[in-house]
Amino acid sequence: MRVGVLTGGGDCPGLNAVIRGIVRKGVQEYDYSFIGFKDGWRGPLEGDAVPLDIPAVRGILPRGGTVLGSSRTNPLKEQNGIRRIKENLAKSEVDALIVIGGEDTLGVAARLADEYGVRVIGVPKTIDNDLSATDYTFGFDTAVGIATEAIDRLHTTAESHMRVLVVEVMGRHAGWIALHSGLAGGANAILIPEQRFDVDQVCSWVSSRFRASYAPIVVIAEGAMPRDGEMVLKDGSLDSYGHVRLSGVGEWLAKQIEDRTGKEARTTVLGHVQRGGTPSAFDRWLATRFGLHAIEAVRDGDFGKMVALRGTDIVRVPIADATARLKTVDPELYEEVGVFFG
Ligand code: F6P
Repeated sequence: MRVGVLTGGGDCPGLNAVIRGIVRKGVQEYDYSFIGFKDGWRGPLEGDAVPLDIPAVRGILPRGGTVLGSSRTNPLKEQNGIRRIKENLAKSEVDALIVIGGEDTLGVAARLADEYGVRVIGVPKTIDNDLSATDYTFGFDTAVGIATEAIDRLHTTAESHMRVLVVEVMGRHAGWIALHSGLAGGANAILIPEQRFDVDQVCSWVSSRFRASYAPIVVIAEGAMPRDGEMVLKDGSLDSYGHVRLSGVGEWLAKQIEDRTGKEARTTVLGHVQRGGTPSAFDRWLATRFGLHAIEAVRDGDFGKMVALRGTDIVRVPIADATARLKTVDPELYEEVGVFFG
């Protein structure tokens, strides 16, 4: 059996741990051989692959990024994209493909499996934690840890200058990173895409924090939207899956706060620092287990499935289930943390 592996979409801490888990178990226990396709779907589209064996995965467990490279290449937008992928898989004598990706990459994997009979297994990855069918995606815990550390640091500088610090975090249209890091970091307001925010309410939280002689920290998800108005964007460009590039709302909110409260407000946009560097222990643990279970699914011939975390168990679900619906923050959960605002 020869297995292809690819990592697609935005990179995410833990990708290398998955690759290592797949290869170690596949070689040692099943005597499989592997190739790694480069840069997400670009690899199988263009037949660009590298050998993957045990020496190739040594030492990569704690490394951020992906040794295979990644991209947001969308084969469904390329001429004869699916046909080219099938031809290149056949040319490389690949019997099965393990696709490690988020909503977009796995969306293509689901179509390849369900409509074109390609033998695919999916592994869920994204710092956004917005894939349904799995309790957590790997990468999320690391991103939350980085954002929490940043918030901790921003508290002390905010206090020294008695100014507002607005922290914009990633997460696309889901508020998971904002909610978890905001709660862990003791933010005075957390604004998420699932619930439009009222600028006057935010200003009143800010003012009440100042009245208590502390400086406020406002955590805002990049996809959060004001109650009155449109999504605030720095630039409205789209990626190859048609998603708008988010960011800009933090800067906009700081200006609104300054204008309405007269207090100085600054913005920190955490950006890609949330995705870079070494994965947390939890993400290494989860990613490794996903890798081990993905190769087991290949061995069982259980194609069209994605490995997923349910409680502490790794289960298999149809890939299409994972991409059918975005997993967003439940209003009740958001309400629960509201006690800390202001
Ligand atoms: O999906 C992961 C993510 O980091 C989002 O949180 C963010 O909106 C997006 O990717 C950024 O993508 P890019 O790195 O392509 O700008």
